[in-house]
Formats: sequence, C-alpha cells, structure tokens
Amino acid sequence: MANGPFLLNQWYVCARSPEIKHARLTRMICGVPLLLFRRRDGEITAIDDRCPHRKYPLSQGHLHGDEIECAYHGIRFGKNGQCTRIPAQSEIPAGFGARAFPVIEKSALVYIWMGDPAKADPRLVPDFFENCGPDWAPAQDHLLIEANWQLIIDNLLDLTHLTFVHKTTLASSGIQENPLTVTVDGDRVSARREMLNVEPAPIFQTIREFLGNIDRFQNLTFIPPNHVHIRLEARPAGKLDDPDLVHHVVLNHLTPETERTTHYFWTISRRLRVNDVVLTDLLHRMNRTAFEEDAIILRQQQRMVDIGGGEPLVNLAADRAVNEARRVIRSKFEEEGAT
Ligand code: FES
Ligand SMILES: [Fe+2]
Repeated sequence: MANGPFLLNQWYVCARSPEIKHARLTRMICGVPLLLFRRRDGEITAIDDRCPHRKYPLSQGHLHGDEIECAYHGIRFGKNGQCTRIPAQSEIPAGFGARAFPVIEKSALVYIWMGDPAKADPRLVPDFFENCGPDWAPAQDHLLIEANWQLIIDNLLDLTHLTFVHKTTLASSGIQENPLTVTVDGDRVSARREMLNVEPAPIFQTIREFLGNIDRFQNLTFIPPNHVHIRLEARPAGKLDDPDLVHHVVLNHLTPETERTTHYFWTISRRLRVNDVVLTDLLHRMNRTAFEEDAIILRQQQRMVDIGGGEPLVNLAADRAVNEARRVIRSKFEEEGAT
C-alpha cells in the first residue's frame, strides 16, 4: 500500500454530509483506514478502523447506540474511541482505545484532521458557502481518482486542457488564445482568464440561453493545500452591466486516499434557476462526464510518473498558477518536516 508522505496538519474533506448516517461508513484518508458514523446527537465519530486489540476491522462490528462493538472478541469503543467494555475481563487498561480524529462539518462537507489534534484549529476550515442552499443550487459528487492529489490540482489550475479533453461539455474557442493572469496573496494563488466575444461552451448554454457570443471569464483560486475554487462568469458579449454575470462555480476538494489515489469531492453550483431540479441533475451529469474524462488522463499520467526517469518536466506559460501552487505545497511539506 502506497503511504505518504502526506500533509497531516490540514483539514481534509472526508465525506459529504448526507453520506454520514447512524451507520458504519469506511474511508481511507492519508493511508489510514477510518470508520465514520453519525451519533444520535448528530455529531460525527471518526476513528481508526483497526481494532486496537488485534486489528480486526471495527467496521465489521455492530453499532450499539453510539458505541461500536468489535465483531471478533466483542470489545466496545465509545464515541471518542475509548474502550468501554471488555467481555473477557472487568478491568479496562488505561488509555486503551481506537484513535479518534477531530471532525468538523461545515456547508454540507465533513472535514477531518489527520495530524496533531492540538493543532486542529476550527478557524482554519475554509467556507464553501456555495455548497448549500437556499441561494445556491448545488450538485455534489465524489470520485476516486487513480492518481496523486497534486496531479489533480495541476489539472484544475491549467484549463487549457478543456479544449482537448472536454469537447462536449466545457470546450469553446478563446481558451488557448487568452493568457492566464496570476496573482499570489500569501498562500492563496488566484488566476483569471478573460475571453471576449467567444462562442458559449455547451455547459453555459445549458444554464442560460445565450443568443450569440459571450464574454467568458475563468477565475481560479487555489486554497492550500488541497482545494480549488473555480468561479465561471459569462455575459452576452459586451453587456458590461449584466446582473447574472456569475454563471456557476465548481468547488474541488482533493483528499489523498493513498499516495497514488485521491478522493475527489466536487460540487457544481449556480444561482440561476435554483429550483430547477432537472437542470441540477443535467449539470451534475455534464460535470461528471468531464471529470471522468479527467480521471482517464490522470490515471495514465500517474502510470508514467510511476515508471520514473525520463526528461524533467517543462514549464510553459499556462503553468504559472500550477507552479505557484506547487511552491506553496512544497512550503507546507517543509513546515511539517516532510519531504
Ligand atoms: S480484534 Fe477486536 S476485539 Fe479482538
Ligand atoms: Fe478537466
């Protein structure tokens, strides 16, 4: 099993809120197998799925209220992982329990902290408010990508690939021809591409019927270490005062499962026609189609990376945001003392 190094002192999205019920959910994050469940008070428990007795998966056990009973020797663990009962002896050794991880739920996303719990500052959880109604109509999803998480960040910060990879959904003229303007503010990397008087890409026409060409804007924000916020703007060409300029957003959260596999949590959300559930479903499917196209590219790219060797990578003009993000990620690794 590929295992790290990972940035551990970070909030990672580990699930979408509706996924976690009063039932066992397993998920590997940063090489650690986890058991997640919602307690009766609505809070979420996240513990190591390896029973501390003999490593049998706790997720094979049974929930009794807010306690999980291991299905091998019947030992029980409470909401914070601490042992509450050992059937074969009356005394519970001090500190005996499964490791528990801090969890926070915000805007319908569940975040987990895999590193030092003392550093798990709730104020560091980003706010992706577009992930919730009533002003926004989100469609959320989760893909498992067979590639390292940093390759997916590269993919999202260089959208010149839209023309070649996403022909039926996101492609249009103007992407290759217009440069990306990149700004860096502390750890955040922002990039904007302005495309004036271009044909609407299919996904733009789906949300709002444009009768002619549009002015199209891509706004990318890398929020370290593993989120990319994309705001897409579109207006009828030349209509500078268009009130519906913000067309839709795509939220991207990349959480390492292992070194070579990544949980890709994403949302496409819009402010127009928020009650149109058919449109929500259509956008969901179009975006999923696009991201499955990316998944194929990324899997093959990872295969070549794994072979190793070859010439060094070449950086071109469109890679500027990618390079700035890589620089920030490198500094985060250095902060945590990893390589
Ligand atoms: S392995 Fe879980 S109780 Fe023994
Ligand atoms: Fe893509």
